[in-house]
Amino acid sequence: MQEPRSPEASAWWRSAAIYQLYVRSFADGNGDGIGDLAGVRAHLRYLADLGVDAIWFNPWYPSPMADAGYDISDYRGIDPVFGTLADADAVIAEAHALGLRIIIDVVPNHASDQHPWFREALAAPYGSPARERFWFRPGRGADGSLPPNGWHSMFGGPAWTRVGEQNEWYLHLFAPEQPDFNWADPSVRREFEAVLRFWFDRGADGVRIDSAALLTKDPSLPEASPDSPPGPDHPYADRDEVHEIYRSWRQVADGYPARVLIGEVWIPDPSRLARYVGPDELHTVFNFPYLSCPWDATALRSVIDETLDLHALAGAPATWVLSNHDVDRVVTRYGRADSSFDLARRAYFHRFPVDLELGTRRARAAALLTMALPGSVYVYQGEELGLWEVQDIPDELRQDPMRWRTGGADPGRDGSRVPLPWAGQEPPFGFSPPGSASEPWLPQPKEWRELTVEAEAGPPGSMLTLYRSALHIRRAEPALGDGPMTWLPSRDGVLAFDRPAAGGGGVRCVANLSGAPVELPAHAAVILTSGSLVSGGLLPPDTSAWLRF
Ligand code: NOJ
Ligand code: CA
Repeated sequence: MQEPRSPEASAWWRSAAIYQLYVRSFADGNGDGIGDLAGVRAHLRYLADLGVDAIWFNPWYPSPMADAGYDISDYRGIDPVFGTLADADAVIAEAHALGLRIIIDVVPNHASDQHPWFREALAAPYGSPARERFWFRPGRGADGSLPPNGWHSMFGGPAWTRVGEQNEWYLHLFAPEQPDFNWADPSVRREFEAVLRFWFDRGADGVRIDSAALLTKDPSLPEASPDSPPGPDHPYADRDEVHEIYRSWRQVADGYPARVLIGEVWIPDPSRLARYVGPDELHTVFNFPYLSCPWDATALRSVIDETLDLHALAGAPATWVLSNHDVDRVVTRYGRADSSFDLARRAYFHRFPVDLELGTRRARAAALLTMALPGSVYVYQGEELGLWEVQDIPDELRQDPMRWRTGGADPGRDGSRVPLPWAGQEPPFGFSPPGSASEPWLPQPKEWRELTVEAEAGPPGSMLTLYRSALHIRRAEPALGDGPMTWLPSRDGVLAFDRPAAGGGGVRCVANLSGAPVELPAHAAVILTSGSLVSGGLLPPDTSAWLRF
């Protein structure tokens, strides 16, 4: 057994399997067609049985929902559509009783335009302290009718909105309803530290930090060329000052036992990504290079190596993510001729035909590959059922600002957020209680009758059965989760590696991404495979196996 390097070396989050719960689409307890905390409470046992260690909740706070809750008007409450603070307390207590930890989403880059601080700022005069908490600037041109600079919103259009008849504009890197905080203002820093304490005191075991690399801006607001890479010279992405903020957040978290800080950092350069983790900063960051990687052995191997090397240098565990609420679902991505992904080019990917059978086979193989890698792993709700991206939602039902603010140029993220199918033969598939007057907030495909929790609970070949088996084995097997890994020699297109156990032996993982069946490497026993072995015990294409050695 490796000697723990520090008390943290055995910390729960170094090996955890974390379920991403998108409340709006998980389960509807009161029949209004929108998921809520009553629905969560009714299904906590399902998550405990699935074998995950923690649940990350997408934002559950009071919000006008201009960006599905990423526009928060009160960081210390629960939106009435989801329930009450008492419901959140109950969720935390009941989850803890089942051995599940709770991670909440904190959104520090921007508030809602309905947040009391922003309303106060709008009512206050130019240059007042209330306005200093955000980015108000005079417009350009004789009458101030041009925005202060040419920055673009990530959701399309300018990153500035003019304040009524005044000559002032405010900055929003996302929608106009999401004004950016000015992190140079000390009251903003104090407030967020207090918000962290508020939730840690209520029992939250960690926070996921939204848009974590964007918080600090160059106050001279220079133009941002589309080619300028994130980094110290970028006007707002991944500037050095942002690390100061997380160092103070780490001090807050360190004041509580076993709390984790997880950064959502979309940085293409893995070496800059790894700068966010370490003993005095964040504990982990999401691994988007892995998620964006095509289903290709060489490409995956290099992302895996780079991820592990950089995290080892920082003394932090890697994370492995196959999908989330912002990207196309994995079954769909892997069923396309181009199986990579890039948030900025979603429309391009949507033009490919999707082979769902192939995508599902690959997603199964990817699940075993991912869960065998060293570090922690995420499961985005519905991934365990093999749900696909719903690409044909009628326009009038779509809600994502990314779609309508780009005039449809970006198809938007609604297709990965369709309510879960729980049981039964037709929509709402048990998402809402029987006889509910309201339909689910996004329509569920009829074909999902085969992908309900009920339908998948029994059959040995279902995605749910595979996830349950893999998660339970992963948790019971000391060689999996955090720890060492060594590559084995393998043919082109095949990934094979060992996860050695402390006393000898361990788990050997092999993933066949080549076009032909391959022999399994030497092993004492087959633990689990993502598909049946073929004649002579060969591992077919797009299939993975866990072996005992
Ligand atoms: C990243 C979140 O995952 C996404 O859903 C959201 O729209 C943006 N940050 C803005 O908060
Ligand atoms: Ca509801």
